[in-house]
Amino acid sequence: MQDLNKKVQELMLSNRKHKDGYQYTLPSPDSYPYQWLWDSCFHAIILNHFSSTDAKKEILSLVARQFDNGMIPHMIYWQRPSETNFPKVEWGKENTSSLTQPPMLAYAVWQIYQKDKDLKFVKSVYPNLYHFYKYFLSERDPHEKNLIGILNPDESGEDNSPRFDKPLGLPPKQTLKENTKRRFKLIEQNIDCKFDAPFCMRNFFWVKDVPFNSIMVENLSLLSEIAKKLGNKDDAVYFMNCANSISLAMRDLMLEDGIFWSTCGEDYKKIKVKTWAIFAPLFAKIVSQKEAKELVDKHLLNKSEFWTDFPVPTTSLDEPSFDEAGFWRGPTWMATNWFIYKGLQNYGFEDLAQEIKQSSISLIQKSGFREQFNPLTGEGQGARNFTWGGLIIDMT
Ligand code: GLC
Repeated sequence: MQDLNKKVQELMLSNRKHKDGYQYTLPSPDSYPYQWLWDSCFHAIILNHFSSTDAKKEILSLVARQFDNGMIPHMIYWQRPSETNFPKVEWGKENTSSLTQPPMLAYAVWQIYQKDKDLKFVKSVYPNLYHFYKYFLSERDPHEKNLIGILNPDESGEDNSPRFDKPLGLPPKQTLKENTKRRFKLIEQNIDCKFDAPFCMRNFFWVKDVPFNSIMVENLSLLSEIAKKLGNKDDAVYFMNCANSISLAMRDLMLEDGIFWSTCGEDYKKIKVKTWAIFAPLFAKIVSQKEAKELVDKHLLNKSEFWTDFPVPTTSLDEPSFDEAGFWRGPTWMATNWFIYKGLQNYGFEDLAQEIKQSSISLIQKSGFREQFNPLTGEGQGARNFTWGGLIIDMT
């Protein structure tokens, strides 16, 4: 493990960039040459194990490009390499995208605070956190159902996940090219409506996603803790109430037969495609102990669903959309393993959590710091020198 720690530290260092007085980390220098929002939150969590100063710098570069309305963009270009494998897409703005990503920011800041108890730092970023989460609460829930919506599959962080096939009008069997074409059309529509979130959602893509809302719940409760530490009692109560309301709404509108499903459309129709997302509520402690056990026994440990030789596949083996080489349609990713690991710990499944940790470590030992892994063979796929493997050092 010590050797692995060192390798993670070297990787984080070699992917590090500086620009305009800011410091940030590339997810993968060859494939992802910019700063990404949820990646940088993962980076801060990883860096915090080595240096809280570097973790803070990663957060400061993210919030430096926060929009006036509170949103933080999912991509900050900082500098554009002359040659890159990454497609040159303009998502609405010159220096950043106009979409966002799962809001892991409060979680990352709370981890940093846990380590060095630097209240001054927390205080300095609190206004950013406040406006970021307020943005979701006020702009992404126009029907006031207490569920937060995304404008585009890319905002979920799981670009081509089969959860979004129905809302995009795509069949379960498809190519990445077909999927990308459809998503880029959505971006054009988003640009046409000037990223007016309620309008874009209502007219083009009305999805309430389970991981996104689970992440909101966990982050709002931590934001409430942060507010408490800063002596902002009203904010603390407010954010905790918001976390509870989302959690209740998820139960009300997403839960059926023990599984939370993402929903689509104004009638909140459940999208019944089994992906790793069914385990995301464990991360936010939204399910009961009995429900957690059922999720584990019936689905996680089920060899025809998620218990492959190299778990946890992002899509269940028995889904027609499952594709072991299909980006978010099957491969095992380190961040989703990390969410599941933390979720299992929340419910006392310590042995199983350790099994997932060991299997994540063996994936990296076998195939290196790759973006994703074939869940059947363990072979590495996609980007190289990809930072998310560093999350294994936070599986503690
Ligand atoms: C891919 C992933 C997304 C990630 C980005 C940069 O688009 O789907 O989650 O943020 O790469 O690593």
